[in-house]
Order: sequence, then C-alpha cells, then structure tokens
Amino acid sequence: LKRIFIKASNEYEVLIGKGILDNVGEYLAKLKKPCRAAVVTDENVNKLYGVRVINSLESAGFSPFSVVIAPGESSKCLSVCEAVLDMFARGDLTGSDIVVALGGGVVGDLAGFCAAIYRRGMDFIQIPTTFLAAIDSSVGGKTGVDLASGKNLAGVFHQPRLVVCDTETFNTLSPDIFSEGTAEAIKYGLIADEALFEKISSGNFLSETDEIVSRCVDIKGGIVSRDEFDKGERRLLNLGHTFAHAIENLSEYKISHGAAVGMGLVLAAQTAVRKGLCEENLLDKTKEALKTILYLLARLIHFLKCFL
Ligand SMILES: NC(=O)c1ccc[n+]([C@@H]2O[C@H](COP(=O)([O-])OP(=O)(O)OC[C@H]3O[C@@H](n4cnc5c(N)ncnc54)[C@H](O)[C@@H]3O)[C@@H](O)[C@H]2O)c1
Ligand SMILES: [Zn+2]
Repeated sequence: LKRIFIKASNEYEVLIGKGILDNVGEYLAKLKKPCRAAVVTDENVNKLYGVRVINSLESAGFSPFSVVIAPGESSKCLSVCEAVLDMFARGDLTGSDIVVALGGGVVGDLAGFCAAIYRRGMDFIQIPTTFLAAIDSSVGGKTGVDLASGKNLAGVFHQPRLVVCDTETFNTLSPDIFSEGTAEAIKYGLIADEALFEKISSGNFLSETDEIVSRCVDIKGGIVSRDEFDKGERRLLNLGHTFAHAIENLSEYKISHGAAVGMGLVLAAQTAVRKGLCEENLLDKTKEALKTILYLLARLIHFLKCFL
C-alpha cells in the first residue's frame, strides 16, 4: 500500500494499492464516527463495484445508500446535480455525514460539487475507478459541473477527506478509457518528469500502474500544496486543456476529456514550436508518446475535418 500525503487547506491521504476497495469502510472509520454515507456512482461502476463498497462501509458501522447516475459527461450538469442533492435530502443525509464518490472523473467532480454545496458543505471521499481519475481528478479539490456554454464553468474548490485508489479497478476499463488517462500521464511527464514521459512513451508501464499513479499524484500534490487555488503554478496542470475544453465543448462532449487532452497536448506543442518557445523536436516527441493511443490522433484528424 502506498500512502501520499496531500497538504492543502484540508490535509488528506491518497492510498494506492490492489484490492483495497474492500477496506474503504475501515479507512473511513479512522476519520469519522459511524454515520450515513451517500455513495454516488454511475450505472456502470455501480454494477461492478457498488456492492463491495456498500458492504465494506456497512461492516465498518456506516449506514450507506446508493445514488446512481447515468454514465457520461452529460451527467456533469446542474440538473443532475439538483437530482443528486434531492436524493441526499430524501436519504436524510445531514451535514455531518459523508459523501463517497465512486467512479471516474465525472462522478468525482459532480459528487464533490454536491458535497461542497449540500447544507453549505460536507465531507466527501474519492474512490477513483478510472486511470484518469486516479492520477488526476480525484486529487486537488477541483469540483464542479459543465454549463451549456462551456466546460467546468460552475464549481468550487472542495478537498476530499481521503482518496482510496484501488488500481485493480482498472482491469475492467476498456482500452480506450484506460488510454484517456494516459494522455494526462503524458501531461505530467511534459511538465515535471522526463523519466515518467519516457516510461509512458515506451508503452511498457501496464505492470507498473501503482508506481505511475503514485508518481502522478505526488507531482499533483506538490503543485496543489504550493498553489491550491490556481493562481500560478497550478496552471501548469492545464497544459493542453485550453484546446481540450474547446474541443470537448464543440464536439458536444462526444470527444471525451482524455482524448481531447491528447489532442490538446499535440496542438499546444505545435503552437509552442511555431512560436519558437520550445525545441522543434517537442512536437514529434509528444506525438510519439501518444502513439500508444493512436486512436486519439485518428479522432483528431476526424475532428479537424469536422470543425476547423
Ligand atoms: N477535478 C479535476 O481536477 C479534474 C481533472 C481531470 C479531469 N477531470 C474531469 O474528469 C472527467 C473525465 O473523467 P473520466 O475520464 O474518468 O470519465 P468518466 O467518469 O466519464 O468515466 C469514463 C467511463 O468509464 C466508466 N468506468 C469508470 N470506472 C470504470 C471501471 N473501473 N471499469 C469499467 N468502466 C468504468 C464510466 O462508467 C464511464 O462510462 C471530465 O469531466 C474531466 O473534466 C477533472
Ligand atoms: Zn484534464
């Protein structure tokens, strides 16, 4: 089990290991007395892991109930947020209870936002089940929803009390969805760690996901501890994201966040090379790193044909 300590306004641990989903109740019991727990998840994740998390919470003395949303980015919106808040109220959730976000980045961002505003703010924990959520969205406290006019336009900073990352959950991800996380891992390599960049580029990292997740969380944790509220250094984590958010929005979210980030990294490198801001080989190296997710580039070409 790897433990990474995040020093933000609320300090918390990220636990990374295999099979640790069944220990969630035990870990949470170290932070909170038995209480009600709203487990927010999506239909896909609920089928795969819902029962294990509910059982673990019950065994540790908590009183959990499930709040299940439809999968996909379209659930990250104010109307689903309202429905979730209403289910919290009907489940008699109080401000001193806990919200458990079980799923990918969509569930994490939405459930975290609901926890931040329900009864003016309550505790929540993150249980990321996608590679992307594990290395990025479950850590750092950015929560929120999309508006029709743009991505992530309504949200607040609200740090989780704990992050439990069971890397065995990646085994049920389709190759496409796993690869979307790879784009964010390449981002960490580009901004902070050449060895990580080389490792991902080599494509030989599937047996080392715990190490990769730890390294990415470590990089993000360091940046968040120095600039929690995105005033300076944290903006590094947005590499490629100005393009990515525009691509997601213009495609009406048919292109996923991770795929859009892959495209965004290539476009950012291209722009930087054209402006003479970086070495010329950066563009080729970025494309090379993304070769493990070649389908992203195929989608990029399709996207460019459709929209530009
Ligand atoms: N808050 C942040 O700092 C931050 C950072 C990066 C990304 N994000 C956000 O994260 C979102 C993308 O997250 P995502 O890529 O995890 O997408 P997602 O949450 O939509 O998950 C992708 C798909 O995988 C399924 N799934 C999840 N876990 C599974 C598992 N273990 N096995 C099988 N299927 C599983 C889901 O049901 C869904 O269909 C975007 O909205 C993005 O804006 C937020
Ligand atoms: Zn991202």
